[in-house]
Amino acid sequence: MQQRMIIAGNWKMNVGPEQAGELALTLAASDATKAFLQAGGELVVCPPYLSIPIVVQRVRGSNMTVAAQNCHWEPNGAYTGEISATMLHTVGCTSTLVGHSEQRRDQRDTDQRVGARARAAARAGVQPIICLGETADEYGAGLTADVVAAQIDTIIEVAGVDSVRGALWAYEPRWAIGTGVTPTLEEIQSVHHLIRQRSRTNHGIDLPILYGGSVNGDNAAEILSLSDVNGALVGGASIQVAHFLSIVEHALHAFRAQGS
Ligand code: 13P
Repeated sequence: MQQRMIIAGNWKMNVGPEQAGELALTLAASDATKAFLQAGGELVVCPPYLSIPIVVQRVRGSNMTVAAQNCHWEPNGAYTGEISATMLHTVGCTSTLVGHSEQRRDQRDTDQRVGARARAAARAGVQPIICLGETADEYGAGLTADVVAAQIDTIIEVAGVDSVRGALWAYEPRWAIGTGVTPTLEEIQSVHHLIRQRSRTNHGIDLPILYGGSVNGDNAAEILSLSDVNGALVGGASIQVAHFLSIVEHALHAFRAQGS
């Protein structure tokens, strides 16, 4: 597939509109961001819903894009407390996470629902960034490959292959999120390879695959140099400007190395 390098910052429930607006301005104005974007890299930030409009405004003209952290599977209706992909599209969001493990853990999101969310996003013209990954117990039991393959199959079955053709996968082992612990490089490469193969052979699609889980300025270079890694979904380090920009710099080097 054509090489892509995508860095996404998931700001989780950490930044209100004021702080998010400042963070967006700082990132958009930085030399590291500009160099990365000029080289063809893609930079996405995922603010909490309330902070989306100001971030869209602040990154305008920079080529950075804005993603939501989730969306509902219906375009509108009696779903108190929810936000639809149609609404996200209206405010300038071009993509959205679906199936993040914190939603799976806290809101009991299932692969069926994640598939329906991805379908709704695609229908609204919003790119789904579909999160996959095993729990600590599943990892311990050696089930990673089975779990991830089943997630891919169910999500695509529900969403329909046309809805995921323009999507991204984000592989985030749950036990690596916010823990400072990551899989080995061999493990990351092997799961990414499996995701690529499964998507190709069972569904005829080839999507970029981001890795997420404790990515920081120290480990980004090695992770991003792996052949089946097309970028990173960064949590904690994404709201610390210096750390995030260091990841962006590593991404630029890895991207250039791929092209050479
Ligand atoms: P951390 O980078 O804080 O481990 O979070 C990863 C994540 O959940 C990104 O979506």
